[in-house]
Amino acid sequence: MKGQIEKKEYFEDNVLPFKNEFEKDVYEGLRSSPKHLKSKYFYDSTGDEIFQEIMKLPEYYLTNSEFEILQTYKNKIGNLLEHLAPFLLVDLGAGDAKKTKVILQHFIDKEMDFTYVPVDISPDAIHNVTLTLAETLPDLAVSGISGDYMNALNSLPRDQNKVILFLGSSIGNFTKEETLGFLKGISLKMNPNDLLITGFDLKKDPEIILAAYNDRKGITAQFNLNLLRRINRELDANFDLSLFEHYPSYHQEEGEARSALVSLQEQQVFISALDLHIDLAGGEKIHTEISRKFDFEEIEDLARASGFRVMENLTDSKKYFTNSIWRKKA
Ligand code: AVJ
Repeated sequence: MKGQIEKKEYFEDNVLPFKNEFEKDVYEGLRSSPKHLKSKYFYDSTGDEIFQEIMKLPEYYLTNSEFEILQTYKNKIGNLLEHLAPFLLVDLGAGDAKKTKVILQHFIDKEMDFTYVPVDISPDAIHNVTLTLAETLPDLAVSGISGDYMNALNSLPRDQNKVILFLGSSIGNFTKEETLGFLKGISLKMNPNDLLITGFDLKKDPEIILAAYNDRKGITAQFNLNLLRRINRELDANFDLSLFEHYPSYHQEEGEARSALVSLQEQQVFISALDLHIDLAGGEKIHTEISRKFDFEEIEDLARASGFRVMENLTDSKKYFTNSIWRKKA
């Protein structure tokens, strides 16, 4: 016990006893009540692969809906940002750029003058996407950045026009406060009339939303449990994955899909790298993810509160998802 208390005090004195942010976040999250782990840690290389599988699931409508929007409206999108050329097309969380490719191809066909700047936490992702794009779209200028989104934006030349993409409803993983902070931060990096295109998952029939996070094949459960596997591997812990279950829920009033891992019995886990024992009661949850859903009014309010004006809300035919195009207020 003593070791734990000292760690905490060192941290508050700003002397980090942790090797990295992952250690610190796991330590703090599992000592909080209720226990929680940050969803950004889903994405190690196994997590990346499982998420690719999720995107192919029939229940996970988000990917197809956004694909349909980009496909249907690529011409309209092109027309809206043509006047910014030459511009940087900054793709936050680009991954393999599968969805972005739809509009990239179209912009190239239109001979638009722009540089594609994929940004991703994972250096592997940037390496791979750069190689694939060189093969599939040889005329495309690519200048990838691996790292934190805000650092990436900071490293870009201030005076160049920018179109920033934040696709896939990743914005839904932020809390309300984080969302506003993030959008304001982006707005600070943009010039007047630059554009931001964000993917928002829309509020809809709760059963459809819940099913997207509770697929029949159990892939989402694997995605969630992989977080414990990662802690076992990277922090030398002894989570027994068979003693935890994926626990998804949808809270309609708040528009929040939440995922947790529920402990199937009373148990103790040891995390060696943190010298930390964790006690879990039977039925106790470790919260792992919030995926927020929006309506058009909330999107309008967010834009206004962070220094933007909504230009267009492009939606798929089922009205499940929107790509909202915002212009930075002059
Ligand atoms: C990648 C954050 C958009 O929240 O819908 C998918 C991640 N989690 N299934 C989402 C996720 C469970 C996904 N985002």
